[in-house]
Amino acid sequence: MIEKKDNFFHLYNKKISYIFEILENGHLGQVYFGKRVSKLWEYDICYLKKYKNKAAGTVKYSKDMGNFTLADQLQEYPVYGTSDFGMSAIDVRCESEIYYLDFQYQDYKVKRYKKRNLDFPTSYGNNAETLSIELLDVERNLKLWQNFTIFDDTAAIVKSIKLENVGEKKVNVNKCLSGVLELRNMPNHELVTLDGAWLRERHINIRPIKHGLTTVSSLKGASGHQHNPFIMIKEKDTTLETGEIYAANLIYSGNFISGVEMDEWDKARIFVGINPEYFEWGLSPKETFSTPEAVFFYSENGINSLMDETSLFVNEHVIDKKWQDVTKRPIVFNSWETMYFDFDEKKLLDAAKEVKKLGMECFVIDDGWFENRNDDRNSLGNWKYDINKFPNGLKSFSKKIHDMNLKLGIWFEPEMVSPNVELLKKHPEWLLGHPYSRKAIGRGQYVLDFSNPMVIEEIYNQIKKIIIMTNLDYIKWDMNRNITEAYSAYLHDNDRSQGEVFHRYICGVYTLYKKIISDFPDILIEGCAGGGGRYDLGILFYSPQIWPSDNSDATERLDILTGTVLGYPLSSFSSHITASPNHQTNRRTMLSTRHNIGIFGALGYELDLNKLSTQEKKEIKDVISFYKKNQELMMYGRFIKLTTNDDVYNWAVVNKDKSEAVVMIFNRKIKPNSTPKSYLKLHFLDEGKKYIINDTDIVSGEFLKKYGMENPIVFNGINQQYSVVTEDLQAICVKIREYK
Ligand code: DGJ
Repeated sequence: MIEKKDNFFHLYNKKISYIFEILENGHLGQVYFGKRVSKLWEYDICYLKKYKNKAAGTVKYSKDMGNFTLADQLQEYPVYGTSDFGMSAIDVRCESEIYYLDFQYQDYKVKRYKKRNLDFPTSYGNNAETLSIELLDVERNLKLWQNFTIFDDTAAIVKSIKLENVGEKKVNVNKCLSGVLELRNMPNHELVTLDGAWLRERHINIRPIKHGLTTVSSLKGASGHQHNPFIMIKEKDTTLETGEIYAANLIYSGNFISGVEMDEWDKARIFVGINPEYFEWGLSPKETFSTPEAVFFYSENGINSLMDETSLFVNEHVIDKKWQDVTKRPIVFNSWETMYFDFDEKKLLDAAKEVKKLGMECFVIDDGWFENRNDDRNSLGNWKYDINKFPNGLKSFSKKIHDMNLKLGIWFEPEMVSPNVELLKKHPEWLLGHPYSRKAIGRGQYVLDFSNPMVIEEIYNQIKKIIIMTNLDYIKWDMNRNITEAYSAYLHDNDRSQGEVFHRYICGVYTLYKKIISDFPDILIEGCAGGGGRYDLGILFYSPQIWPSDNSDATERLDILTGTVLGYPLSSFSSHITASPNHQTNRRTMLSTRHNIGIFGALGYELDLNKLSTQEKKEIKDVISFYKKNQELMMYGRFIKLTTNDDVYNWAVVNKDKSEAVVMIFNRKIKPNSTPKSYLKLHFLDEGKKYIINDTDIVSGEFLKKYGMENPIVFNGINQQYSVVTEDLQAICVKIREYK
């Protein structure tokens, strides 16, 4: 998948080509990223080389190189101050000196296969090839390896950087982004980001790309609720099925920056990496610093194709593949919105009996199970069960759950500490925060210093005890406050810069993940951060699924889901059916609406089962039985958006051979007598197949593709065969399977 000709490198698979070159000054320059080109033709290279350096009014790179300037090049890893004035990818300083870096090509090597290594999240796969280019700044004694990985199945290129100090003086790295993609002629393009807030995560946000810099970022120590590292650049008139799209993401969970800079010639510089603000990494002689990986995606045919690529990449090359076995992904019952802190063993066991009867598979005790934890102000960092709530012990409780043939899950918030716990009295220096007299506090708690290995060891030992005691199957790993006054006493004592805190902290989080997963590989860890405050590829490397939002209202999840799936697979989206009226919005919805939206992704329940009618219990049983039979389709089927606007959401999942599909149709408001009939074209089906709709009507694939399926939500006063005319906020699922 890697070819070198002359000064050009060509990375390709059946879908894409990525071409870059060694520029005449020895730097790396980009040439092309897009649909696969057959090969690097000699005459194309000559043609490319012939017409260059036409930019007027620029400073030239060197007096010996004629008109050559970096300003008009597509650069692989732009440096500032050597004839380019755009946003740089790297900033290194030595004492009071600023380095104007000048990395020259030295050599390259190619490596096959990429192993999954739990030390730090990266992409992996047997079908990978990695090209590493070695560059050297000889005057400043810095070596830079630029790594490019391509897999044979996805339209994605993965990039990362390793920097080595080969000199004799310590230097400080103030910025070292993971990857850049430069594209010419982008005057009509839009930037799509996933933005929001707590309870409103990852809503699609579209803005035109204007000249200058547009970024989204985080300084919260986590990727955050407000922005996501995933960004997408599309032509204005791109549709669900047409138009070129470029997208980028970062395999990382800490402070990030993602953005685009458009220059005076409509050239777009797309970049992702660790946020350089409040970042400084000391690099002593012989030390190296490696960035997280950036991933760049390409889609030739609009948004649905892009989602094919992002979901394939994340399922195959980020999440541990073993979780694709859906028997390992239980239907969860969670105690949080069911009983919050108000429970004891008896209440839990009563609920568990009902949970079992309805067909759910894993009983999760959320927050509130440990000593003194009757509200959210206490006891974090003291992971001992509450004897008042479990008078017979947690071990005996876990045995009772397992005896019912249910799995057991427990909530932890490993990175946090409450002010009143012994641990903090014994080790005040384990708190992450400056020793100022005032410290910010969030949800009544502080953050532990995960850059200190001793802290991780202590928390791991506490969690391990509980895992062994309960023979635990599932962990919900929560994280409910962000980092402020980032300062580590441990780094201070070890003479490291405080600018390293954020990155070392998140590396510590990954270390704890590694410890748990290495010792207990069968435990499923669901990621969570006060809802969706850390929905990123770093967490997905360890956790196959993430709690996407504390907003569990199905109609709110429509926006959250349709945003999230641009960059992340449905299999990662944890979807719980909760009560009506909903606890966050007070909105009432039918159970069928909650189900018909909730069955896409990893299904779970989080509501008081005692309050359900017999009819509702029957509906739950039926849905669970359908879900179990179709779990693979509902988690790993191809997700297709059919239409989206604020009032109508139509989407579908279809399996690989197009023999099974489920179409979801949501209507916010019933419009009486708006149209007697409407049809939804199901272009994703197989023209050559015959299908049966809801086990009732037989229709050809060709008809469904070209004419369409009758929309069941049409109110014209008469109940048609499968129309269910009820009320606003109606979601319906139509099941389609091949008829033989
Ligand atoms: C925030 C999570 O997102 C919720 O699901 C729940 O686990 C609470 N924390 C518990 O404190």
